[in-house]
Amino acid sequence: MWKKAESFIRQCYTELDKLSEIDARLAEIKSAINHTGRYEHTYEELEYGAKAAWRNSNRCIGRLFWDSLRVLDHRNSKTEEDIINGLLEHIDYATNQGRIRSTITIFPPEINGEAVRIWNHQLIRYAGYEELTGVIGDPASIELTRACRRLGWEGKGSPFDVLPLVVQIGENEPQWYEIPAEKILEVPLRHPEYEWFKDLQLKWYAVPIISDMRLEIGGIDYTAAPFNGWYMETEIGARNLADEFRYNLLPAVAEGMGLNIRRNSSLWKDRALIELNQAVLHSYKSDKVSIVDHHSAAQQFQLFLSKEKSCGREATGDWTWLIPPLSPASTQIFHQSFEDRIDTPNYFYQEKAY
Ligand code: ARG
Repeated sequence: MWKKAESFIRQCYTELDKLSEIDARLAEIKSAINHTGRYEHTYEELEYGAKAAWRNSNRCIGRLFWDSLRVLDHRNSKTEEDIINGLLEHIDYATNQGRIRSTITIFPPEINGEAVRIWNHQLIRYAGYEELTGVIGDPASIELTRACRRLGWEGKGSPFDVLPLVVQIGENEPQWYEIPAEKILEVPLRHPEYEWFKDLQLKWYAVPIISDMRLEIGGIDYTAAPFNGWYMETEIGARNLADEFRYNLLPAVAEGMGLNIRRNSSLWKDRALIELNQAVLHSYKSDKVSIVDHHSAAQQFQLFLSKEKSCGREATGDWTWLIPPLSPASTQIFHQSFEDRIDTPNYFYQEKAY
């Protein structure tokens, strides 16, 4: 812990231009670790750490905006109820009526020595029910949906039921809470030209808030630190709604377009993908909900790369994740390569809590 703390503090205070404070702060941290086995971040360290963790997220194409992350400090939460209230505040603050604010809420690394975990993958996500006739809803949520039902939650059984928030402290019984419907901003999908598209009755939620990753800053593990940006349209239109193992909607869209789905060479999948993504962009924009198309996101990423260079850093990256799933070679990212080194602070996967 001490080694990690020391290197983080040096990096943090150097970048924040507070070199003269390093020695005193390190002495303070060393003594805290020696006496209690732990130390606490100041708000400034926490804020810098969360931002740097985003900057170091090799798979994220949206990192140009790392420095504008809003960091909400909820390290004073004591109970499951405190945490659930913090999650509801996060949803309101980040949603902001559609003008989405990139936000992270940081809960205590532990409460009375016990780890804090949010079971949800994202604070807002649709349930998936495995039925004899097939899956209803999001197949990616089948396991969590089963866990929620074991806790006593009952879904309506529609394709777009939002799962409840589930919070657990240590080995205590997990507490669940149904998010009030008025707090959940959703966008009904329609197409700028195809009138029939709305009859597919598709929608998606506005704000993707990842809630199952561990934020590591200076040797401290924040196991509950949900964060969000805004969507890039391909996440919804080329993956969530399109993947065969998710909502698998390309055949339905292609049929609506009157394409021959028996022949690969009609390129029906490609044509359906484009129109589905167009519908996502059109609907979010019409409803004034923040969203970025993959060409603009790729341009913003190039700007991030050059800004990093001019600060004397070389951005790291995971090419396989950075390229968008639509027309990847039409973006500059495709024609570059990146070092996929994992620096800290960073966000890490952790074992499922359920
Ligand atoms: N790809 C995930 C989803 O479709 C969200 C990941 C985070 N995305 C973001 N734009 N911040 O739900």
